[in-house]
Amino acid sequence: MHIPVLQKEVLEFLSPKADENFIDATIGGGGHAFEILKHTAPNGKLLGIDVNLAAIEDLKEKIKNEEIKNRLILICGNFSNLQNIVRDFNFNSVRGVLADLGFSSGEIETSGRGFSFLRDEPLDMRYGKNELTAEKIINNWSDQDLTKIFREYGEERFADKIAAAIVRDRKTKRIETTFELVRIIRQSTPYFYHRRRLHPATKVFQALRIAVNDELNNLNKFLPQVLDVLVSGGRLAIISFHSLEDRIVKNFLKEKKREGLIEILTKKVTRPRHEEIAQNPRARSAKLRAAIKI
Ligand SMILES: C[S@@+](CC[C@H](N)C(=O)[O-])C[C@H]1O[C@@H](n2cnc3c(N)ncnc32)[C@H](O)[C@@H]1O
Repeated sequence: MHIPVLQKEVLEFLSPKADENFIDATIGGGGHAFEILKHTAPNGKLLGIDVNLAAIEDLKEKIKNEEIKNRLILICGNFSNLQNIVRDFNFNSVRGVLADLGFSSGEIETSGRGFSFLRDEPLDMRYGKNELTAEKIINNWSDQDLTKIFREYGEERFADKIAAAIVRDRKTKRIETTFELVRIIRQSTPYFYHRRRLHPATKVFQALRIAVNDELNNLNKFLPQVLDVLVSGGRLAIISFHSLEDRIVKNFLKEKKREGLIEILTKKVTRPRHEEIAQNPRARSAKLRAAIKI
């Protein structure tokens, strides 16, 4: 079960009211979306998008006998195509857009796609159905390209050592599972690295996930489209989970404020309170930024 992060804060910033329309661009398990829908009853609609078909199908099943199904439109798609999706479904008067980036607990725990270094699964890491998988990156990309993504997307200090070990090991046999990759990471990093709070594979797994799903490009494509679909006075809220994403959101908001297109609601980034982190450790790295379109 995915516990929504920063739920109270998201509601404060998006401020949903009766009969207003919203978009949840990463609907996942629907935690945030259902809460928004409570505030927009009786006629407010929500367009829920997720690139993971299983998430959309689970939600359809969950709401099939509920009244809410008349107000919740569920679409499997990539938020990088936001404008097209909004146009195709003739969804208008959008008062707010939420994106809660990254992956859901369901994807980690039950997708079987190798998102976690704690489960032995095929190296896949796709949210959706794109061509590229983690297995293809690990077995086909050059030493330099592997080093580059581990360094840039994972900020991994032993990027070159890990990449060299992968290239060496794959000569004997394709590297196909998460545990095979974890073993190589352990063997190519010093002992002290294995004794810290952070698992030694954390950063490489983050880097692979970002590369497989083209996460930073998608976010860069998505943000300007949010401003296009919002009505004037409409609000946006973006939750990110690592500094690369947060930097993109922060710089985008700064630029649009300079252009006089938005007012920023989060002068300082909003972080979860200690109590939330104690109840939901996944919230630890969450950062929320919000703005109003002028
Ligand atoms: C953190 S979860 C969202 C959880 C949701 N807010 C909830 O309360 O249950 C992020 C979701 O975004 C989806 N996702 C990631 N990248 C996406 C993209 N480019 N377009 C659409 N959905 C995406 C993932 O499949 C995942 O279900």
